[in-house]
Amino acid sequence: MNRFALLSVLFTLIPGSLAACFCTVTGSLDDCACDVETIDTFNNQKLFSKLQNLLSSDYFRFYKVNLNNPCPFWTDSGHCGLRDCAVKPCTASEVPEGLKSSYKYSLEASEHTEECEMAEKLGAVNGSLSDETRQALLEWNRHDDEADRFCMHDDEDSPQAQYVDLLLNPERYTGYKGPEAWQIWNSIYEENCFKPYTVKRPLNPLVSSAGDGEGRGFYSWLEDLCVEKRAFFRLVSGLHASINVHLSARYLLDDNWFERKWGHNVSEFKLRFDDDLTKGEGPKRLRNLYFLYLIELRALAKVQPFFQQPSFSLYTGQPEQDRANKHLLLELLHLARSFPLHFDETTLFAGDKKEAAQLKNDFRQTFRNISRIMDCVGCFKCRLWGKLQTQGLGTALKILFSEKQIETLPQSSSSRPSFQLSRQEIVSLFNAFGRVSTSIRELENFRKLLSELKQEL
Ligand SMILES: Cc1cc2nc3c(=O)[nH]c(=O)nc-3n(C[C@H](O)[C@H](O)[C@H](O)COP(=O)(O)OP(=O)(O)OC[C@H]3O[C@@H](n4cnc5c(N)ncnc54)[C@H](O)[C@@H]3O)c2cc1C
Ligand SMILES: *[C@@H]1O[C@H](CO)[C@@H](O)[C@H](O)[C@H]1NC(C)=O
Ligand SMILES: *[C@@H]1O[C@H](CO)[C@@H](O)[C@H](O)[C@H]1NC(C)=O
Ligand SMILES: *[C@@H]1O[C@H](CO)[C@@H](O)[C@H](O)[C@H]1NC(C)=O
Repeated sequence: MNRFALLSVLFTLIPGSLAACFCTVTGSLDDCACDVETIDTFNNQKLFSKLQNLLSSDYFRFYKVNLNNPCPFWTDSGHCGLRDCAVKPCTASEVPEGLKSSYKYSLEASEHTEECEMAEKLGAVNGSLSDETRQALLEWNRHDDEADRFCMHDDEDSPQAQYVDLLLNPERYTGYKGPEAWQIWNSIYEENCFKPYTVKRPLNPLVSSAGDGEGRGFYSWLEDLCVEKRAFFRLVSGLHASINVHLSARYLLDDNWFERKWGHNVSEFKLRFDDDLTKGEGPKRLRNLYFLYLIELRALAKVQPFFQQPSFSLYTGQPEQDRANKHLLLELLHLARSFPLHFDETTLFAGDKKEAAQLKNDFRQTFRNISRIMDCVGCFKCRLWGKLQTQGLGTALKILFSEKQIETLPQSSSSRPSFQLSRQEIVSLFNAFGRVSTSIRELENFRKLLSELKQEL
């Protein structure tokens, strides 16, 4: 199937054969030869484990984030007291010296000595940079890409920003639910998804899944949107689906004096995604998840030249590991490139130049607003992963829609301003994709569990 055909299949909102591919308790998956299967095979057999490998490295596991920004839209109802919402930030000694210092070095030589002393004390790390790396870091810090960004700058340099070890704070069931969580999703869909104001979405989704008053289903307003705005909705919905797949796959199954056990909760999954139980909405949500996957995968393929630059380093101050990780990263990007059915981003924001530019701007502003809403998420664990995933998706969009040339040649040979990514963007991009990739993988697990259940009956 060519790109365009795939695109149109993915944009179709009518449940079709694709819908039958997912999570339905009846009907076997075997006789369904659809494109999601191409994604499944590609992800589950080729990409997933490589990516997980990369994400366990020091460069990618430490994410610097400010979880203490106040909510800009309404007054917080305080912190969520749930124990599984807690995020444990790293102590200074847990973060590799090279990570902490890489940015500072390039800006302030005076801090050099202090950092080096610390590095010496710790012994393990050579915190000093080669001239080449220093130059590259300088280059990266100099850029101003305000016009390209889809997310608010999360003040990385704010004193409140902290490193979080993502491996120690996994995304999973937290018990964050009810009106507070709904308010977040609601303000995203209701006020930040280009939805016409005439259509009201109930705050409590259980009360009613009202239509548009004309006998059409609630989501029928989507059909009237242009392709870009629909894509926007689908990305948000895909993210929502991914989060809900994770909490179903890492559900708190047992909580007693002796142990806390996390694992798959099939009933929870079915409540959220089963065709019948969700009146057909579940399979659409999952298709949106696949859509999100395709968008992020395409961004990785496109950004490959940036990472191929010899001056680019996954710098943590441990040269051998850093080199090995760069090698692994490039292998992964090569694999991403080899995917046969890539999304074609040039079909979006095409058409009339002025209109397209306006649309793109709206798209960007709205997405940025969503990244700010993440500061309103009451559960810190959810806020952490929410921020990371929106920033990662924002970075993917920046890659796909930046006007700047992504370098293949050394920077000096080009007169155009070059495309840049900060460490925070890089870490969020790959970790966000890691989440979606894990969700796709989990769907396979749920399918297995569901078919086992069926056989038992
Ligand atoms: C940013 C953020 C991060 C979160 N992270 C976590 C986490 O890490 N762990 C955790 O346990 N909980 C997390 N939550 C909470 C979780 O997403 C749910 O809100 C919560 O479990 C309650 O679920 P619910 O069944 O009431 O429906 P919700 O998921 O709250 O959804 C509300 C309504 O939106 C509609 N809907 C549901 N899914 C989709 C979709 N994919 N696309 C379009 N519409 C949809 C349905 O009508 C649904 O009833 C997070 C919430 C937010 C806002
Ligand atoms: C640390 O690395 C720098 C640059 O790579 C090198 O010049 C220096 O000798 C190293 N120092 C130690 C103690 O290994
Ligand atoms: C941003 O989101 C908030 C909260 O949903 C909303 O009230 C506001 O109108 C949005 N602003 C823009 C510019 O979209
Ligand atoms: C699984 O989820 C269902 C639905 O939310 C819940 O009722 C049930 O208690 C959960 N199972 C376990 C073992 O926690």
